[in-house]
Amino acid sequence: MRSKTETRETKLDACDITRMLEACPGDETESLFAFADRTRKHFVGDSVHIRGIIEFSNYCTRNCMYCGLRRDNRNLLRYRMTPDEIVAAAKNGILSGYRTIVLQSGEDPYYSASDIARITEGIKSCGDVAVTLSIGERTLSEYATMRSAGADRFLLKHETADAELYLRLHPGASLETRLECLQNLKSLGFQVGSGFIVGLPGQDISTVAEDITLLKLLDCDMAGIGPFIPHPDTPLALHPPGDVMMTLKALAVTRLILPYANLPVTTALSTLRNDGRHLALSCGGNVIMPNITPAKYRELYEIYPDSASLRDPEDGGIREIAVMLEAMGRKMSTTRGDSFRRETGTRGAPSS
Ligand code: 5AD
Ligand code: SF4
Repeated sequence: MRSKTETRETKLDACDITRMLEACPGDETESLFAFADRTRKHFVGDSVHIRGIIEFSNYCTRNCMYCGLRRDNRNLLRYRMTPDEIVAAAKNGILSGYRTIVLQSGEDPYYSASDIARITEGIKSCGDVAVTLSIGERTLSEYATMRSAGADRFLLKHETADAELYLRLHPGASLETRLECLQNLKSLGFQVGSGFIVGLPGQDISTVAEDITLLKLLDCDMAGIGPFIPHPDTPLALHPPGDVMMTLKALAVTRLILPYANLPVTTALSTLRNDGRHLALSCGGNVIMPNITPAKYRELYEIYPDSASLRDPEDGGIREIAVMLEAMGRKMSTTRGDSFRRETGTRGAPSS
């Protein structure tokens, strides 16, 4: 059944969100996913944006309890790509057809803000391409340097909206600082992405509902929602993986709450499920982020084991993705896929 709310942004409170997250397998989840899919189609259309990710350094000063790149993991060979290598990898991506390059790393202060700025300028001089940074917490003035160099977007997941859980999982860090960084990025005019992990120890449905409410509060342009995957060299090695169904429900509800947002299929979901891309694109997702890191570095960016991104060909498999999308009745976007409000200056009108 098509409801009236599909033509407007849906107003949902925390109770509505929790109730939807409690949807039972079968009819209830099917109708939630179908509603999210129709909402996605109405607000952002059938185009799927493809962003090429370059994981340019696996050094990290932080010690997140769930992540294989954490500082205290001594079983990992660390690498850093040089600025020239990063720009060359981006150039290859642009030649393959990518219109957004995502630069991702651990929190690695080795690269100064002006290093990142110069790399950004180098990439942007290759064509009409957006640059997204995903390099963690920095000061306002560092972010400003990167923004002035032309960086368009910034991904900084809040990971969990539960301040106490945040503290336990991120030694020496706080949710408050995270949110301050996100506000700083917004104030500088970045298109901002947040997101969270499903299945963290101590999380329950109400935490996930809070995560989604926070995405709304932040009015995110983008949101990445992925399941937890245990890494053997972390304190959470024995914690079970996050639930795929809960991840999909969270994605679907996020589409209802933030109908114009760019919502990627997360690599973590594709790691747990071979059909992860298909699943996520069918319940609200509209972005795929293939890995275009040079092959020799890929295995070393081990946030969790056996990442699906290891299966991506060197060019990220952009042609294969186009074929998959065609079969789903979707199409590969030909635009940069900026936040809808950047393209139109409003969030009032639906895209075609
Ligand atoms: N399982 C799932 N996602 C993880 N991340 C880090 N470690 C894990 C894990 N073990 C995610 C975090 C981070 C992004 C780079 O990867 O959300 O923001
Ligand atoms: Fe570093 Fe990010 Fe991993 Fe935390 S999640 S240890 S900040 S790479």
